[in-house]
Amino acid sequence: MTSDVLTDTLPVTLTTTDGVRIDVGCAPGTDVLAAAAEAGYVLPSLCRKGTCGACYATVEGAHDVGPHSAEALPPGAAADGGALLCRTYPREPLAVALRCEDSRIIRGSIPERGAGVVAVEPVSPDGRTVRVRLHLDPDDVSGAGVEFEPGQFVEVSLPGQEPRRAYSLANVANWDGEVELLVRLQPGGWFSEVLEGWLATGPAGARLVVHGPQGAFGLRENGIRPRWLVAGGTGLAPLASMVRRMAEWGDPQPVRLYLGVTTAAELPDLALLPELAEALDLLPGAVLEPCVWRPDGTWTGTAGTPVDALARDLAVLGGTAGPEWPDVYVCGPPALVDAACAAAAAAGVPADQVHAEKYLPA
Ligand SMILES: Cc1cc2nc3c(=O)[nH]c(=O)nc-3n(C[C@H](O)[C@H](O)[C@H](O)COP(=O)(O)OP(=O)(O)OC[C@H]3O[C@@H](n4cnc5c(N)ncnc54)[C@H](O)[C@@H]3O)c2cc1C
Ligand code: FES
Repeated sequence: MTSDVLTDTLPVTLTTTDGVRIDVGCAPGTDVLAAAAEAGYVLPSLCRKGTCGACYATVEGAHDVGPHSAEALPPGAAADGGALLCRTYPREPLAVALRCEDSRIIRGSIPERGAGVVAVEPVSPDGRTVRVRLHLDPDDVSGAGVEFEPGQFVEVSLPGQEPRRAYSLANVANWDGEVELLVRLQPGGWFSEVLEGWLATGPAGARLVVHGPQGAFGLRENGIRPRWLVAGGTGLAPLASMVRRMAEWGDPQPVRLYLGVTTAAELPDLALLPELAEALDLLPGAVLEPCVWRPDGTWTGTAGTPVDALARDLAVLGGTAGPEWPDVYVCGPPALVDAACAAAAAAGVPADQVHAEKYLPA
């Protein structure tokens, strides 16, 4: 931060990918994300401290940049106008190009609903990938149902407690208020231990508070280009939601789903995720390719990462990007997401056809 003192509120114009323009004023010492929230617009964001990258946007106009991690805003990104809005302090009027459509901006505050925990069920051979099923309490705004776009996430907390963790929604919007999450239990993790407790005793009577839906990740309308989905571990969750929505709507785009895990014991069993299996069956020509990075002698499928499989299939397309080139959707651990985005770029997939969500620890 610079030591010069600014005293006047500066205008900031936010423009969404679908061309909606929102004008807010940014007071001295206030970051753009907070200024938008004060004006009643919650922009896609999560950590609000420069570490998750969820508030990334392109900014024109002089501004100061607050402390942030290189993972969230890589060195060099600022030269192309890249900025984290939670760490952007205007020094003059700013024009901000958001990476989301208007529908992903929450008016007012992030919705909050109580939920009963219906089930916590292991879905991988090692028992550490679990499906969590919740039933949301009806409320005045949504009634009994739950509305969200595939790709979005919620934060969950225990009633009356502060810590929250983000989880992608793995099912689709429905009238019954049902929410499904796919969670990899992390050794010693706070919420992982909560879930382990419910796994051991059963979740009878267990309650959560669900904050959201939130987030900008999601399917883009882009004609009938193929959609290639790359998941690292439980990065499967939002991609499963996309597949289920595509099947529900009868979308025509050919789908490939690359699902990467380290060992076969971590691989979610589709027999335990029947709605996803059914959706893949319903989509003509849909291909699921499980990829095991460190296979044992019994694994007969693809050995390697889903990034290797993606690069292999992109190489087959060859030549210059054309209409048969896929839109690529990637989700999972940051290293996998970065590698998949780099592989897509190296193969020639245009940047506006690559969409990603990183699972960064809280
Ligand atoms: C937008 C978003 C969506 C997410 N969606 C999902 C999802 O659908 N499914 C899912 O399983 N996770 C998801 N995550 C990650 C999730 O929010 C938590 O970080 C994770 O479940 C660990 O929480 P915890 O409380 O158990 O562990 P914490 O108490 O937060 O961490 C305990 C230890 O585990 C390590 N750790 C935490 N997360 C990971 C990780 N992912 N890999 C390796 N080590 C880790 C931490 O560094 C720490 O040392 C998402 C994250 C983001 C940002
Ligand atoms: S909300 Fe800005 S980097 Fe996380």
